[in-house]
Amino acid sequence: MITVKLLIFSLSLLLGCCIWNVLSCKSVDFGNGGTACVCDENYCDFIGPAKKPGGNGYVIYTSNLAGLRFNASYGKFIQDNGNSGSKKKHFKHLINKKKHEKRDYDNTILELNEDVTYQSIFGFGGAFTDSTGFNIKSLPLKLQTAIMISYFGMEGIEYNVGRVPIGGTDFSPYSYSYDDGPEDKNLTNFALKDLDYKYKIPFVKEAKILNDELELYGSAWTAPIWMKTNNSTVGGTIKPEMYQTWANYYVKFLEEYEKNNISFWGITTGNEPSLALFPLILANVNTVGWTPDQLAKWVSENYGPTLRNSKYKDIKLMAMDDQRYFLPGLYKVLDGPTNASSYIDGIAVHWYLDKYVPATTLNTTHYKYADKFILSTEACEGSTRVDKGVRLGNWQRGENYAKDIIDDLNNWVIGWVDWNMAINMTGGPTYVENIVDAPIIVDGKSKVFYKNPMYYAMGHFSKFLPRGSRRISLTGDYTNLDIVAFKKPKGGIAIEILNRYNYSIPLKIRYKNNKLISLNVTPKSMNTVYW
Ligand SMILES: *[C@@H]1O[C@H](CO)[C@@H](O)[C@H](O)[C@H]1NC(C)=O
Ligand SMILES: *[C@@H]1O[C@H](CO)[C@@H](O)[C@H](O)[C@H]1NC(C)=O
Ligand SMILES: *[C@@H]1O[C@H](CO)[C@@H](O)[C@H](O)[C@H]1NC(C)=O
Ligand SMILES: *[C@@H]1O[C@H](CO)[C@@H](O)[C@H](O)[C@H]1NC(C)=O
Ligand SMILES: *[C@@H]1O[C@H](CO)[C@@H](O)[C@H](O)[C@H]1NC(C)=O
Ligand SMILES: *[C@@H]1O[C@H](CO)[C@@H](O)[C@H](O)[C@H]1NC(C)=O
Ligand SMILES: *[C@@H]1O[C@H](CO)[C@@H](O)[C@H](O)[C@H]1NC(C)=O
Ligand SMILES: *[C@@H]1O[C@H](CO)[C@@H](O)[C@H](O)[C@H]1NC(C)=O
Ligand SMILES: *[C@@H]1O[C@H](CO)[C@@H](O)[C@H](O)[C@H]1NC(C)=O
Repeated sequence: MITVKLLIFSLSLLLGCCIWNVLSCKSVDFGNGGTACVCDENYCDFIGPAKKPGGNGYVIYTSNLAGLRFNASYGKFIQDNGNSGSKKKHFKHLINKKKHEKRDYDNTILELNEDVTYQSIFGFGGAFTDSTGFNIKSLPLKLQTAIMISYFGMEGIEYNVGRVPIGGTDFSPYSYSYDDGPEDKNLTNFALKDLDYKYKIPFVKEAKILNDELELYGSAWTAPIWMKTNNSTVGGTIKPEMYQTWANYYVKFLEEYEKNNISFWGITTGNEPSLALFPLILANVNTVGWTPDQLAKWVSENYGPTLRNSKYKDIKLMAMDDQRYFLPGLYKVLDGPTNASSYIDGIAVHWYLDKYVPATTLNTTHYKYADKFILSTEACEGSTRVDKGVRLGNWQRGENYAKDIIDDLNNWVIGWVDWNMAINMTGGPTYVENIVDAPIIVDGKSKVFYKNPMYYAMGHFSKFLPRGSRRISLTGDYTNLDIVAFKKPKGGIAIEILNRYNYSIPLKIRYKNNKLISLNVTPKSMNTVYW
C-alpha cells in the first residue's frame, strides 16, 4: 500500500506535474545570515534525478549564500596541451602565499590523478530519532512524504545511511530502554516500545522503499538502570556482573527489529561514553560510561563473542561513537592486552569537538589501524551554549557541515551521518531541553517545513557520491578552497568544492594531461562538478 502511494507520488514529481508545480527553492530570509527554502502543501523544491553530462562536458551544481540551491549548469572541457600554467610560477605562488589573502589564482592548476586512490565511500545520512518521527508526523501526510522523498528519494538527496537509536536518546519524550522493569538478567521482559512503532519503524521502512541501498546502524544511549553502577539513566557504568546481559541486549534488539523486517549493517559500542565520564558537559543526557579498560574487557569477553556467535555475526562493530578528542582512549583499547581489536571493524567519530582536534588525527588513526574504517556517526549545529538551537536559513552552519565533511573525506572517513533529520521550530522536542538545529525544521502548526543550508550541504555529498565512490588524488595549491575528488563506481568523476570566502575564486583542474576544467567558484558557495 505504502509502496504504491510512494510510487505514484515519485512519478508525479518526476513528470513535474500534479502534486507540486515548481521544483525550485522558495526562499525565506529570517535575518539569520542566509535563506531557508519553505515547503508547504502546494510547493516544495526537489533537485530531481542528477543531470547527465554531455559528450565532452561536465555538470556543475551550485548552492550559495546568494540563494542558489542545486543550480545546475553545464561546462565543456578545454583541450589543453599540458603547458597552461607554468610550474615555476606556481612554485613562486606557493612561496608568496599568505593565509586567507585574496590572490591571483589564474595560473594555479590542480592535477587530478585517478590512478592514485584512497578510501571508498560508504554513504551519507541522518538519524531516525523519536523527535524526527514525532515532528514529521505533526505535518499533513503529503508533507510527511515530501520530507522522506527530500532525504531518501531519487528526486531528493538520496541518503543511503541511517542511524537508529537503540532505545531513547535526548531527542525522545523521556529516557527509556527496552527492559525498564525490575532486574531481569535473562531479558525475559525485553520489548520494543510503542515509540519504536510510532516514530522509528514506519520511517525506516519508508526510507528503505525510497532508497533500497539504505544501510542502518544502531547505537544505544543507556542500558536499563538495573544493569548500571549508579541505578540511573545518566552516568555510571555497566556492573561487571551484567556485562553478558548487556551484550545479549543488543542481540535481542537486532532480533526484535528483524521481526519487523528491518536488518542492520552495523552497531556501535554505545553513544558517547565520554558524557558519563565527564558529566560536566550535558550532565543530564542518558549515557553509559566506559573506560578503555572496561570497554576492552566487555568487547573481548562479552559483546564481541556474543555478536560473532549470533546470527548477526557479519554486522560491522564500530567502537567509540564519540568525539575525535577521545581517540587516544580507543588506541588503548586496540593496543591493549585483550583481543578486543579483533572484533572491531570500524571507528565511529562525532564532530562536536572537531574545532579542537585537527582532521589529520583521523589520517594518523587510519595509518595506525589500516584494517579499520572510520565513519562519522553524528553531527549537528546549535549544540553549544553560545550558539544554541535553531537558526533558520543560516548559511554559516551549512558551510560548517561542508567544511567538516570535506576535511573528513580528505582524511580517510568513509561517510558522514547527521543527527536529527527533522526538529521543531525551537530545536526539539528534547526531554532534557538540549535544543539543537537540523537540516529540516518542521512547523506543524503552520503546516510547513523549512530546508536549511545544512540540507543542501549534505546533499552535495549524499547525492553525488554514491556508495563505492573512490577518493582520488588532487594536488596543487588550493589553500582558499576546500576540495575533494572521487572516481564514481560506474565511471566518471565527482569533485566537491567549497568556497568559504566572500569573493569569487578562479580554479583550473587538469584531468588526464589534456582536459582542462576552468571555473569561477562563486562567493560563499558549495559546488559539485561531475561527469
Ligand atoms: C545557474 O544555472 C544557470 C543555467 O541553468 C547558469 O546559466 C548560471 O550560470 C548558473 N549560476 C551559477 C552561479 O552557477
Ligand atoms: C536465567 O536463565 C537460566 C537458563 O535458562 C536459568 O538457569 C536462570 O535461573 C534464569 N535466571 C533468572 C534470574 O531467571
Ligand atoms: C533504582 O531506582 C529505581 C527508580 O528510581 C528504584 O525503584 C529502585 O529501588 C532503585 N534500585 C536500587 C537498587 O537502588
Ligand atoms: C551516576 O553517575 C554519574 C557519574 O558517572 C553521576 O554524575 C550521577 O550523578 C550518578 N547518578 C546517580 C543517581 O548516582
Ligand atoms: C515481513 O515481511 C514478510 C515477507 O515479505 C511479510 O510476510 C511480513 O508480514 C512482514 N512483517 C512485518 C512485521 O512487517
Ligand atoms: C578473545 O578473548 C576472549 C576472552 O579471553 C575469548 O573468550 C575469545 O574467544 C577470544 N576471541 C578470539 C577471536 O580470540
Ligand atoms: C597522512 O599520514 C601519512 C602517513 O603518516 C602521511 O604520509 C600523509 O602525509 C598524511 N596525510 C595528511 C593529509 O596529513
Ligand atoms: C519543540 O521542542 C521544544 C524543546 O524541547 C519543546 O519545549 C516544545 O514543546 C516542542 N514543540 C512542539 C510543537 O513539539
Ligand atoms: C568580505 O569579508 C570581509 C572579512 O570578513 C569583510 O571585511 C568584507 O566587508 C566582506 N565583503 C563583502 C563584499 O561582503
